[in-house]
Amino acid sequence: MVVGVPKEIKNNESRVGMTPAGVFEMVKHNHTVYVQSGAGVGSGFFDKDYQKVGAQILDTMAEVYAKSDMIVKVKEPIREEYNLIKEGQIVFTYFHFASSETLTQAMIDSKAICIAYETVENEDGSLPLLTPMSEVAGRMAIQQGAKYLEKPVKGKGVLLGGVPGVSPGRVLVLGAGTVGVQAAKMAAGLGAHVTIMDVNMKKLRYVNDIMPNHVVTEFSNELNIRKHIKSHDLIIGGVLLKGAKAPNLITRDMLKEMHPGTVIVDVAVDQGGCVETTKPTTHEDPTYIIDDVVHYCVANMPGAVPYTSTVALTNVTLPYALKLANMGWRSACNLDKTLAKGLNIVEGEVVYKEIVEAFKWEPVLA
Ligand SMILES: NC(=O)c1ccc[n+]([C@@H]2O[C@H](COP(=O)([O-])OP(=O)(O)OC[C@H]3O[C@@H](n4cnc5c(N)ncnc54)[C@H](O)[C@@H]3O)[C@@H](O)[C@H]2O)c1
Repeated sequence: MVVGVPKEIKNNESRVGMTPAGVFEMVKHNHTVYVQSGAGVGSGFFDKDYQKVGAQILDTMAEVYAKSDMIVKVKEPIREEYNLIKEGQIVFTYFHFASSETLTQAMIDSKAICIAYETVENEDGSLPLLTPMSEVAGRMAIQQGAKYLEKPVKGKGVLLGGVPGVSPGRVLVLGAGTVGVQAAKMAAGLGAHVTIMDVNMKKLRYVNDIMPNHVVTEFSNELNIRKHIKSHDLIIGGVLLKGAKAPNLITRDMLKEMHPGTVIVDVAVDQGGCVETTKPTTHEDPTYIIDDVVHYCVANMPGAVPYTSTVALTNVTLPYALKLANMGWRSACNLDKTLAKGLNIVEGEVVYKEIVEAFKWEPVLA
C-alpha cells in the first residue's frame, strides 16, 4: 500500500502521524511511504531521518494526498485538506466528528474511509488511542501546577517537595482514571502529599494498592471535596463521565474557601471542566485568576510536548496502521473488532451512530 504522512496544518499542532520508526516498519512490510517535507520537524524528526529509513519526501501536502492510498495523521482534516481527500482513500487520524457538522459533511462527500483514533475501542470499553494523551496530560498537570504555585506567577509560593524541616505541598486529584493516576504518581514522586478521589471503589482500591503511603484515597462527594480544598495547594481535575459534560465538582462559591494562590489544573477542560469557573485557555496564555485562585485550563496540554506526545501516540497507532496497510481496511476491520469501532464514515455513509445522533440526522445506517 502507499501510505502518506502530511504535515499537520492546524494552528499550534506540532505532532506528526508517523515517526521514522513507523516508516521503518512500513517499508519493512513492502509499503511505500511518502512524507511531506518538514512534517516531523515540530516533533524533532527531520526529512533526513525519514529518508534514512526509506521514506520518500514530497514537497507539498497536495502531492502526499494525491499519491497515497492511506493517510496517517494526527488532527482532523481542516478546510484546506477537504478537497485533497479522495474516494476510497483511508484516512486514519483523530476526527471528533460529533463536534463538527462541516467536517462530517466534507468527509461524507469525499467518499473516503474515515477511521477515527478516538473511537477505536477495546472490548472493555477502554480507548487505546486516547489513553496515551491522558497519560501525557496527567503527568504534565503536576509539572505545570508546580510551576504556577510559584509566587512570581501569583501562586501560593509552595515547593511541592518541601525541604527538610518544611512539610511538602499537598495535591488533591479529582478522578482516579488515567489522568488522575499519572498525576498522583508524578506528585508522589516529587514528595508531595497526595489525596486522590473517585466515586469508583475499584479505582480507589487499585490506587491504594499500588501507591506509596503518602498517597491517600478518599471517596468523592461534595462534603469531602469541600473539606479538602481548604488544605490543598494544587488541585487536579481529571474526572470523566463518558460522552457527557464533566460534573462541576468545584463550584464558584468554593473558591473563597481556598487559600489565595491555590492552583487548579483542570485537565477535564475539554469536556467542559470539573470546576464551575473553568474556561479553555491556550499554551500562549494558559492561566487566569478568579478569587485569587490560579486556573490552568489548557485544552490541548500534550501539544506543548510534541516529541513525547508524537512518540506516545504513534506507539499505539502504528500496529493498527500496519494492519490496515497489510490487509486493507475491510479485512483488517473484519478481523479486529477493536479497530472496526474506529470506522466512522465509509464511502459516503456514516456508520457510527453517535455522529448521526449528535446532528439529529435521520438514521441511514446499514
Ligand atoms: N486538557 C487536555 O489536554 C487533556 C488531555 C487528555 C485528556 N483530557 C481529559 O481528561 C479527562 C480525564 O481523562 P481520563 O483519560 O483520565 O479519563 P478516565 O475515564 O480514565 O478517568 C476518569 C475518572 O473520573 C472518575 N469520576 C467520574 N465521576 C467522578 C466524580 N464525581 N468524582 C471523582 N471522580 C469521578 C471516573 O470514575 C474515572 O475513574 C477527560 O475529560 C479527558 O478528555 C484532557
